[in-house]
Amino acid sequence: MASFTRTLPASWYCSSPLYQLERRAVFLKAWYLLGPVTRFQVVGEEVGYEVAQVSLTACRMSETPGDIKVYDGKTGLEFKAYITETGLLFSTISDEAPSFDEFFPDLKPLIGTVDFTKLPYRRSIKYEGNFNWKTMVDGYQECLHCQYTHPSFSVYYPPTFYTVYNHKNFSQHVADPKKADDGLFLYFFPNCTLNVYGGGMSSFRVCPTEKPGVTRMEFDYYHQETGEKFEEYFKFVRQVAMEDYELCEKAQENLERGIYAEGILNPVKETGVAFYQQRVLDLVCAQHEAETESTTDTHYETNNHMRQWKLVDPATS
Ligand SMILES: [Fe+2]
Repeated sequence: MASFTRTLPASWYCSSPLYQLERRAVFLKAWYLLGPVTRFQVVGEEVGYEVAQVSLTACRMSETPGDIKVYDGKTGLEFKAYITETGLLFSTISDEAPSFDEFFPDLKPLIGTVDFTKLPYRRSIKYEGNFNWKTMVDGYQECLHCQYTHPSFSVYYPPTFYTVYNHKNFSQHVADPKKADDGLFLYFFPNCTLNVYGGGMSSFRVCPTEKPGVTRMEFDYYHQETGEKFEEYFKFVRQVAMEDYELCEKAQENLERGIYAEGILNPVKETGVAFYQQRVLDLVCAQHEAETESTTDTHYETNNHMRQWKLVDPATS
């Protein structure tokens, strides 16, 4: 019988020590999309971010295109940053991250198809939700929920053709192959997205707080138009975002109730979920192993989660 990929255990969505391990294993070693260069138009204006409890600031230093620095909001020390040829700014949040090319070896051809310097920045919003960061990423990485959760979105992008292509540290979502110019959806591991559709562009970051059941959502919106046309686009994309938000809060409630422990993933429609969860699992397990080798382990709860995983994982039992 074919074996199915299983989800991460529910306990991984509810545990503080597990999140701290994720922070060291995943977040401190990753690259983050801060936005297209149009987000940083004003020389000297500081744009603040917070990723996994690290404060960072991006600032355009001069009129020279691409002269943008990213630095630690507390110490002022500069972080490794990278601007792609088509104008996307990425940054790290610690020295532990590899080089941009090592992290995203095959990203450039794909983002080279869109000129990100052409879409003006319009608006940002952020708010907290009662769910784990992975609960939101789970939803983003599949579209099985789209037809019933996003009726307005599904009119434009019927889920029939929806396909996810996974690469090293990112996924491309193809909503409708016939609309090649409208509808570029990218997920950057672990928590950033870029969504070009409906005549505009949005980018959101799924920012974990120190509480595993609370996540801060941060959205940036870009559009050629202002006024009514932008507001129409904004209303449309906000509707989709709020539908996801409600779904995540409900999913998290179930994860925290202790009834659901784990499930299996659809081998065709949930490859995006399987891909990123496997990255989290591999990195967290490697980190845990490295830390327990080097110290006398006192992380009792973390050990329990790892043990729980190993007990239920046929590959290791
Ligand atoms: Fe959704």
